[in-house]
Amino acid sequence: MLRIGVLVSGGGTNLQAILDGIDSGFIPNAKIELVISNKSNAFALTRAAQANIETSIIGRKQFETPSAFDDALAARLKEAKIDLVLLAGFMAILGPGFFSDFQNKVMNVHPALIPAFSGPGYYGLKVHEAVLSTGCKVTGASVHFVTPEVDAGPLILQQAVEVKQGDDAETLQRRVMEEAEWKIYPEAVRLFALGLLEVHGRQVHINN
Ligand code: GAR
Repeated sequence: MLRIGVLVSGGGTNLQAILDGIDSGFIPNAKIELVISNKSNAFALTRAAQANIETSIIGRKQFETPSAFDDALAARLKEAKIDLVLLAGFMAILGPGFFSDFQNKVMNVHPALIPAFSGPGYYGLKVHEAVLSTGCKVTGASVHFVTPEVDAGPLILQQAVEVKQGDDAETLQRRVMEEAEWKIYPEAVRLFALGLLEVHGRQVHINN
């Protein structure tokens, strides 16, 4: 059984998509054991409680240094014997210390086609605002393994989404979630649970 830990900060719709994927059997042999939020008011915590999943709140401000925050997160995940960590709208940056125990075991979903509109400063609605102000006709979402360099780890899956005339950041965010994020994130977790992902440098091979 794959023990999953999910890190969240907000609404938790991607957490919900993973929960639904497990409940329906699409993601086999896996269970979300722990949800950690860095924000005490994140609606994702309510979703976790409704699904009877243990939750923790660990905020950056509780610690003097970024590395102490990283250590606290890693310690909590190790205590829960987590095999795979999912960042699902987690709006904090993890430092190198976090990854020593979780190399190629941390995934993130980003609401754009990496390397476009990614890296420091590109998160949430800001990504969609930047896509619209650039006049792009196509955007999308990416799931990747997380490394200390923001949004630069090996890409697992990407899905393109049309930008429509008249979109604002909210309508575009919703379409990217519905047509891309909520599909490719459960699919990436399914592939991991089945042992079908192999990382070779920057490339991820899918053995199916
Ligand atoms: C999602 O669109 C996710 O891709 C994005 O925040 C939203 C969280 O929604 N993440 C980032 O921008 C990370 N760089 P959710 O809380 O409903 O899953």
